[in-house]
Amino acid sequence: MFETLQSLNADPILGLMAAFRADCNPAKIDLGVGVYKDSRGRTPVMAAVKEAETRLLETQDSKSYVGPAGDADYDELTARLVLGDALCQQLQERRCTVQVPGGCGGLRVAAEFIMKANPRARIWVSDPTWPNHVPLLGTAGLQIETYPYYDYDNHVIRFEEMLAALQSANANDLLLLHGCCHNPCGADLSADQWQAVRDLALDKGLTVFIDLAYQGLGDGLEEDVYGVRLLAASLPELLVVSSCSKNFGLYRERVGALTVICQSGAQRAAVSSQLASIARGIYSMPPDHGAAIVRIILEDQDLRLSWDRELTEMRDRINGLRATLSSRLAAAGVPDDFSFIRNEKGMFSFLGIGIPQVQRLIGDYSIYLVDSSRINVAGINDSNIDYLVDSLIKVLQQ
Ligand code: LMR
Repeated sequence: MFETLQSLNADPILGLMAAFRADCNPAKIDLGVGVYKDSRGRTPVMAAVKEAETRLLETQDSKSYVGPAGDADYDELTARLVLGDALCQQLQERRCTVQVPGGCGGLRVAAEFIMKANPRARIWVSDPTWPNHVPLLGTAGLQIETYPYYDYDNHVIRFEEMLAALQSANANDLLLLHGCCHNPCGADLSADQWQAVRDLALDKGLTVFIDLAYQGLGDGLEEDVYGVRLLAASLPELLVVSSCSKNFGLYRERVGALTVICQSGAQRAAVSSQLASIARGIYSMPPDHGAAIVRIILEDQDLRLSWDRELTEMRDRINGLRATLSSRLAAAGVPDDFSFIRNEKGMFSFLGIGIPQVQRLIGDYSIYLVDSSRINVAGINDSNIDYLVDSLIKVLQQ
């Protein structure tokens, strides 16, 4: 039976991890997969996570099943992290949150849920978007449409074109937005632009679906959810998939949440039962360990403060690296203007170079980045920035 199967290419992002590990060049730099790295190039376990994990090991007295919606306390705490206490209160009757296995698990459950509600739904995704959005949403059966988003030449959002393209969306189509720290381009909507999108969604009857994978890594925990909260407060329906992979550094534990805001309290019971049934049909129930760590951190004032402090250091480091890289390239007299890197948000920006140049950076210099020229800024540090800048200049001059 298996003889009909073809070998597939490695995932464009995850494949870089294996290639980087196999590279013996001591000067190699990993700007590929989106994991945070500290000034020594490590992806550390956060102090609050270590402490919560220790407490969990000491106090946990059962490994019995939790259930398809996960831990109700975790669900509530993560909803509050995303929406804030006031809005959570206001939306109490109309919202439900389920624990999911990471952002990917949440996106897939949400896609299956949308298909149950509207099997003919189309989902509009930004051009460009995170490449894994396409299989995660498309394999569930959603028809994918794209709207223009990033202007590669001028490094700005093609906002007028985005709005114009969305004029051809139908009522009940889905609009996928990145909550903050757009992956892959790092260009986020301004407050005015979020308001214009809200007006458009109301006007056309679109259901907004927000992927929030980087809360706290752009401008701050509260600042980064301006758009999410604006839309949650003003739209009749909303889906938000939030991930704890990056802001809690819990990547391999697979911790996420799917929050659905319904039109009425009466719909909430049906929505929760559908989400539970979808989870049961795919993975039965989400893994507990990472979610328990997040719960312990969010319900303990000291641990929460420690986590917030460390997240602030991570964010400040990324923003500092953005400024350093753009000024180092300018000081080196590179003719191309890289000042946009300073202003973009989160881990990613495009260098704006072509695939042959990317391949030269990988093949000749062991500097790993995605073919689209997306770099993970957090992979830069004091020990590798000279080599990075020199290599980039050589590639740009060739
Ligand atoms: C990335 O974009 O690099 C991360 O979100 C990791 C992944 O799964 O692709």
